[in-house]
Amino acid sequence: MMDKINAIITGIGGYVPEDVITNEDISKMVDTSDEWITSRVGIKERRILQGEGVGLSFMGTKAVEELFAKTNTNPEDVQLVLCATTTPDYAFPTTASMIAYSTGCKNAFTFDMQAACAGFIHALEVAANFIRSGRYSKIVVVSGDKMTSITDYTDRTTCPLFGDGCGAVLIEPTTEELGILDANLHTDGSGLEHLHMKGGGSAYPSSHETVDKRMHYVYQDGQYVFKHAVTLMADASIEIVERNRLTRDDIDWIVPHQANLRIIDAVARRMGVKEKVMINIQKYGNTSAATIPLCLWEYEDKLKKGDTMILTAFGAGFSWGAVYLKWAYDGKKA
Ligand code: UT7
Repeated sequence: MMDKINAIITGIGGYVPEDVITNEDISKMVDTSDEWITSRVGIKERRILQGEGVGLSFMGTKAVEELFAKTNTNPEDVQLVLCATTTPDYAFPTTASMIAYSTGCKNAFTFDMQAACAGFIHALEVAANFIRSGRYSKIVVVSGDKMTSITDYTDRTTCPLFGDGCGAVLIEPTTEELGILDANLHTDGSGLEHLHMKGGGSAYPSSHETVDKRMHYVYQDGQYVFKHAVTLMADASIEIVERNRLTRDDIDWIVPHQANLRIIDAVARRMGVKEKVMINIQKYGNTSAATIPLCLWEYEDKLKKGDTMILTAFGAGFSWGAVYLKWAYDGKKA
């Protein structure tokens, strides 16, 4: 009998821009305060990618270059580059094609996929299935957003929330019981009206009118999204824990999407896990598809082979879910 193939993460790279926007900076733009943002959301500062014509592919290229250096990967061996983002450089071609080109992945095919803030966990499951098929052995998932490009700095209900960043992971096969062992992913399209960007797509193509009506920015019904994020991330996580017969003690790490510290705390509380929750929202804010890989990137040195993790996210669509992952290596790859 052939051994079952599992898909493991064998390395991680990340990138955040150097320029910082503090809560003080935001307080000068809109009627808000460090106290409000810190207590209601848990963010102290976020990063912004600046420069004309500089988009997500710039951060993605940096993250993938770091990934290749840390894993001694020859770019020509990569068979697929998959980019999860809501803020591609261009409507077309794909950002994945740009990143594959800039990093020398000459033999890869590429595509972008979008699941908003849940992009990374959705992309992991997609990549894992390419590996499980037995036809692919080296896949790069690059997941990030330049959220400041769609943030309205006159809207105090959204502008403190978002920042820019990108992560990248290498996915390879193993016959050990490690890697992406289960995924519990969901979509409910009725979320559209509560979280979207109206302009710039085929429904409302860019025009003077869409610009005048400020339709090229994130719109969010914060309270509605908050309630659904807490309930659905916790439900998806508990379901995946139960169906894999895990107990609270088996879980070494919760890796939650970083949208609001109060959401993270509520999900951890419902799961009965207080410690071992990865948190970096205070430094980067909500970087959408980048939040989970940037957590893994920063916590890499603390991770051990066999560590059991539940990754969970919620975002526009609504798209959400949880992934059960067993980490595949010890410590930080140099
Ligand atoms: O990543 C994709 C998924 N997104 C999320 O998961 C985000 C989910 N939502 C949230 O995290 C929160 O709902 C927000 C952070 C967006 C807002 O926090 P909230 O505790 O839900 O605030 P709220 O919208 O209920 O507003 C409370 C009060 C209001 O004032 P009144 O009506 O009580 O007088 C707002 O006008 O806070 C006011 N407010 C602000 N005050 C100071 C709203 N934004 C601000 C602000 N500074 N920036």
